[in-house]
Amino acid sequence: MFNKDFRPRRLRTSDTLRRMVRETRISADSLIWPIFIIEGEGICDEIPSLPGQYHYSPDMLGRAVERMRAHGVSRVLLFGLPKHKDENGSSAWDSNGVVQQGIRALRAIAPELYIITDVCMCEYTSHGHCGILCGHYVDNDRTLEVLARTAVSHARAGADMVAPSDMMDGRVAAIRAALDENGFVNTPVMAYSAKFASTFYGPFRDAAGSAPAFGDRRSYQMDPHNGREAMRECELDVQEGADILMIKPAMPYLDLVRECRDRFDLPVAAYQVSGEYAMIKAAAKAGLIDEYGVMCESAVSIFRAGADILITYFACELADAIRKGDIG
Ligand code: PBG
Repeated sequence: MFNKDFRPRRLRTSDTLRRMVRETRISADSLIWPIFIIEGEGICDEIPSLPGQYHYSPDMLGRAVERMRAHGVSRVLLFGLPKHKDENGSSAWDSNGVVQQGIRALRAIAPELYIITDVCMCEYTSHGHCGILCGHYVDNDRTLEVLARTAVSHARAGADMVAPSDMMDGRVAAIRAALDENGFVNTPVMAYSAKFASTFYGPFRDAAGSAPAFGDRRSYQMDPHNGREAMRECELDVQEGADILMIKPAMPYLDLVRECRDRFDLPVAAYQVSGEYAMIKAAAKAGLIDEYGVMCESAVSIFRAGADILITYFACELADAIRKGDIG
């Protein structure tokens, strides 16, 4: 039966009105842009698997800063591509490693930036796994030590926040303790709390040269079937002292973004990963979808699900959409 007293369309009659009654509010302050720093000089090359994203050598980071300033984005997440890789990933904690050089370069040219670093071993190990191997198995507790060392070395180089993405048990506690011991009590830890063993990371692994040489990451990253276990991971990270929780990937896991938001009081970040970005780019290039519209709608859906923070390769373009009032 149609009850003529209730007409939801009344609040959809004009753009001014629709914008007034939006439930989800988005600000460019909530966006983090991931970038790739490659060891070397004079490099600013587009990444084939991530159209519109670049490999920057430390001396060319001014290009990334120009882009961020043009769009009003000021939070950045750094990934490194080192020249040297070995069994233990030792260049990850080298004070002159590629990320450490990148942090110092960014600090010098753009003091206003908030610099977050991804802490993981896979870009630095010759075997491409996220920790120290014992046979073909990643040794959890030995890996904690190198992760902690890497996080401290990022903080020493000037990182504002560290984000461990390795999925070892106990890494948040290990990193928190090491940061505190070294005088970095105010350096927050954004934990990749529920990071799934996802096929959506494919384009990133091409971009970062971090695909495992054998096997896969299923003995440390989570099984996509498991939602309760994801909440358990979040709970453990809260207990270990994480400052921000993260769900990754974002769109296929929006149920967990919502659940995490409802269960915990910490800020919740969601990572719209490389495969999510590359699918939108490819479908738009093929003329199948409108890139701008899908980008906007995907971001809105992630915030509506409960994310406080969005990490996305679209950060700069989304900031424009917010400024124009198309979203947010
Ligand atoms: C490092 C790391 C990965 C991503 C972020 N940190 C790759 C992986 O776990 O294989 C993926 C990000 C993306 O796909 O955009 N462990």
